[in-house]
Amino acid sequence: MRSLTLVGSGWHPPLFRAEIMALLGPIEILHPRIAFVTQDESSLQSIKRAALVDDCLRDSARLWDPQGLDEREISNHVAEWAESRVPPGSFSVRVRRLGTALEGLSRRKIESETGALIASETRTVDLDDPENEVVVLIAGPEDASSHWDDAQTTSLVVWGLRDETSTGAYKGKPPTERPFFKPVTLDPRLARLMVSLAHRPGRTPTAIVDPFCGTGGIAIEASLLGMQALASDLDPEMVEGTTTNLQRANGEGAYSVELCSAEEIHELWGDRPGSSFVFDPPYGRNAWTSGDGLSILMGALSSALRMSPDGSVCTMLPTSPEALSGPLSGNQIVLGRDWDEIREMIGETGWSVVHSAPVRVHRSLSRLVVVCHPSD
Ligand SMILES: C[S@@+](CC[C@H](N)C(=O)[O-])C[C@H]1O[C@@H](n2cnc3c(N)ncnc32)[C@H](O)[C@@H]1O
Repeated sequence: MRSLTLVGSGWHPPLFRAEIMALLGPIEILHPRIAFVTQDESSLQSIKRAALVDDCLRDSARLWDPQGLDEREISNHVAEWAESRVPPGSFSVRVRRLGTALEGLSRRKIESETGALIASETRTVDLDDPENEVVVLIAGPEDASSHWDDAQTTSLVVWGLRDETSTGAYKGKPPTERPFFKPVTLDPRLARLMVSLAHRPGRTPTAIVDPFCGTGGIAIEASLLGMQALASDLDPEMVEGTTTNLQRANGEGAYSVELCSAEEIHELWGDRPGSSFVFDPPYGRNAWTSGDGLSILMGALSSALRMSPDGSVCTMLPTSPEALSGPLSGNQIVLGRDWDEIREMIGETGWSVVHSAPVRVHRSLSRLVVVCHPSD
């Protein structure tokens, strides 16, 4: 077993935590953007797949409620820890501030004082290419965020050695550089996040199925992660475009792309136990078929359950920006109806909603990220 302290991207702390829980199971939340996890080495490797893990520390220590401490006291704590934790060789000290804690403190001062205290004959400071990086997180209440969060915030200082299990929050290559691009293309970070959220802890999906593949944003992430991607769309141009994009992405995961209505994917792919269904269904101007968007979505969910009665779903539904300012209410408008009504309709397809979180797409447009597991 090994323990790591994970730092989440400031873009959406609640979804950072949801992503880690989907990949790893229960976590200890130290701060909205800091989680402490203890797992075996192979489970921890799934952190590499995450979209919203910004940094990762090992051998960490923490100090709760550091109000009143000055730079020297913080440096002393870190230096005392470093005696037994920082290996010989070159090192640097980096201070990161999360939120608004201890604003009077100088990051530079803590970095230089801690560096001076740790430096010895066997440990030398190298700011450009250090063998070991000591990271000190000074964390307090988040700045006014664009996403409402119910997590409790207590100020704390956490420090540890930077661990290569994370290489920083995921960006991906810009979709405009793909051979086939349309404005509907999902942002790679969001697509990867949805793939993560469709994990059940400790179990990698046998396939990622996207029945509304469009330009292939989700299938590309699955394939880059080495997972099998089963993509389909009702528009032949999208089928061809996704195939071209997947070829170019050159991911390790096998893929198939077919022309198919989303309500018939169980006939196309057959039984596929353990699959995860990840998609953003058509809406508004993109709903180019004659059918009603809502019934297409429900048909796709029913078909998905027939393919994989033990699978999972992560989808994204249009909602209005008020959803961002507080807990999601039952009468929030999602897909043009009350959320309670949509949740009930999802329930009738045999899935139940286990998680939902609004995300801001731009000023007047928001989406509700929805994760479902089979009802039984
Ligand atoms: C919002 S886009 C998906 C975008 C995609 N995630 C991407 O990254 O490019 C929705 C897609 O659903 C497709 N679509 C619409 N109705 C459909 C149906 N009944 N069955 C399957 N696909 C459908 C559209 O052709 C469109 O490509």
